[in-house]
Amino acid sequence: MNIAILGFGTVGTGVFNIIKKVYHLTENLHVKYVFVRENKKDQLAETTASFDEIVNDPEIEVVVEVLGGLEPAHQYILSALRHHKHVITANKAVIACYLEEFTKVATENQVHFYFESSVGGGTPWISEIERAARVDDVDRIQGIFNGTSNFILDQMKQSGATFDDVLGQAQELGYAEADPSADIDGWDIANKLCISCDIAYDCFVSPRQDLPVFGIRNITAADISTFARQGYTVKLMGKSHQIGTAFDYVVEPTLYPSYTFEANTHENYNLISLHGQTVGDLRFIGQGAGQLPTANAIIQDILDIMQHRDHLERGFERRLTFQANLSKGDYLLRSTINFQWLFSNYDMRKVGEYVLIHQIPVGLMHSLMKNIQEKDPYAWMVSVAAISNEGVVQNAILN
Ligand code: HSE
Repeated sequence: MNIAILGFGTVGTGVFNIIKKVYHLTENLHVKYVFVRENKKDQLAETTASFDEIVNDPEIEVVVEVLGGLEPAHQYILSALRHHKHVITANKAVIACYLEEFTKVATENQVHFYFESSVGGGTPWISEIERAARVDDVDRIQGIFNGTSNFILDQMKQSGATFDDVLGQAQELGYAEADPSADIDGWDIANKLCISCDIAYDCFVSPRQDLPVFGIRNITAADISTFARQGYTVKLMGKSHQIGTAFDYVVEPTLYPSYTFEANTHENYNLISLHGQTVGDLRFIGQGAGQLPTANAIIQDILDIMQHRDHLERGFERRLTFQANLSKGDYLLRSTINFQWLFSNYDMRKVGEYVLIHQIPVGLMHSLMKNIQEKDPYAWMVSVAAISNEGVVQNAILN
């Protein structure tokens, strides 16, 4: 099977190297082209700067898109599908925005559009949501979806290093996005959560600026050590619930007691879980970022195509309504301005540098936090995980 790789950065190089090593199952894979943008100089015999050469070559069956970003990745994927090429991508941003369109065009052209590597890196997550969704309505998804932020939080806690130092390390290790603000501010998780919800709920969830997404840009070494002394660890989480015809969706830092799986998920690892009615809770752990784990998931998709192992078909025809306030939770907030009056309808108490606000709807908390940050850009909040009777960490659902 002849394939073309669009992009030769961290992940593209990983795919190329795994195929070149010729493990027994990849011996029938042949990288015919590696597409690089015109301004880069040739590195390999396979290199081309002509996308048209690739899509017009009848020998190419699979196009792997690892350019990242929205354009030209969006147009290249559509063009490859319309030229009857199967497409595999690790590009979370483009999938989150255009999954519905890609699925429709792939179906029209009787080819596959697969994206296992886009969420959880090397962790088999998309395939396992698909399996769970064959039997159950998946009604809860949550987890540590970003390797870079987990690496940063973990290293800050273990070594006391500063945020900027550990971000530099994450970049050197190839975990961070080209613009690491996507990792730090939660938008990479937001894209991954959209993709997961799309598959789990069979409903296209468009990434929108008004979603409750709050990151770790403002976390300090003092925050981390204060929580550590109390036996807590901060993790940047994505969380979603589906109840009847409504769903919620939030990205936020969350405090976990030291005995939980989340608190013990280290380095670049992801820990992602789903809940279904008959399967209960399923948790998946694996390297969520990095060259070879991500490339491994791409190779798995290529092999699925080669071996005719079709993935679950989704039409995204269910109509669910996004409700930012479907869940409520406890939050610790620190700011230099007087903000308490904003929360006068809720129980509050001072906890050291922070104010603990009890059982406030999640969407409301995020919108009030946006107001506070207009006056104090360094203000920061963290959700406090609640542990259910089954030992599952979750925000309470509003009745
Ligand atoms: N920057 C991403 C992360 C890469 O750190 O998780 C994998 O999606």
